[in-house]
Amino acid sequence: MATAIIRGLEDLRTTIAGWRRQGQRIALVPTMGALHEGHLSLMRLAAQHCDRVCASIFVNPTQFGPNEDFEAYPRDLDRDHALLEKEGVDLLYAPEAGDIYGEGFSTSVRVSGVSEGLCGGNRPGHFDGVALIVTKLLLRVLPDLAVFGEKDYQQLQVIRRLVRDLDIPVEILGGPTVREADGLALSSRNAYLDTAERAIAPALYRILSRYAEKLSAGAGADLDEARKELLDAGFDRVEYLEWRSSEGLHPPAPGREPGQIPGRLLAAAHLGRTRLIDNVPVIPRTDRG
Ligand code: PAF
Repeated sequence: MATAIIRGLEDLRTTIAGWRRQGQRIALVPTMGALHEGHLSLMRLAAQHCDRVCASIFVNPTQFGPNEDFEAYPRDLDRDHALLEKEGVDLLYAPEAGDIYGEGFSTSVRVSGVSEGLCGGNRPGHFDGVALIVTKLLLRVLPDLAVFGEKDYQQLQVIRRLVRDLDIPVEILGGPTVREADGLALSSRNAYLDTAERAIAPALYRILSRYAEKLSAGAGADLDEARKELLDAGFDRVEYLEWRSSEGLHPPAPGREPGQIPGRLLAAAHLGRTRLIDNVPVIPRTDRG
């Protein structure tokens, strides 16, 4: 069946209400477009759990800082629509910016704690913008389930907190990161990499995985060394490389050391004009099945 494109809120509500009347379970997969296999895997995950899948595409200005790539962010609605159609996605909701942030818009949504540090520490206001748009999309579509990629691990935790705190009746599901054969996590921003940078980029996952393995083994690991290895591999700048608990993204503390409880090793590093992020699980050996 063809993937309908809806741009207006009234049309969206009419379509969703029709599905609801038929007792169908609805999933939302929010994206900013420039779709790749990672996004498409989230669509498939959504389809496994629901009768109808709605993908949204909106390059959200409020989550970009003044010197970030909002203008340059790749946009190709026709290409994205064709990809969604191939996946059998029911609906593409692509609102106009003026419809989302109308004249006099004055409301903010801030999730503290889990949004602090890591990407939040380096991109002031970023998670406020994410929390705002995700809240609006959830309230517009009112899905039973919303799916987000684990590649943006901190974002996923921010959204879980937001939904819990605001009693938004939706289940949040994280989809595993999809990688190229050499380990590079798929990202719309990989398109910015030139050939030399593309050859360096997989070092991020390689180094994270090696240090996660050391931490899992309870051997301890010097994360300064890991940061230095990224620079030696050719990255221009390491924004952060840190261990955090999987639940709540707490930093290490007594009784909460890497390798003692389930955690995540997360990093952001710059290659030329491209900022890459990635994360890998650190599962204590004793917790493994
Ligand atoms: O992960 C993204 O693509 C965006 O941050 C999201 C969740 C669609 C909000 O704009």
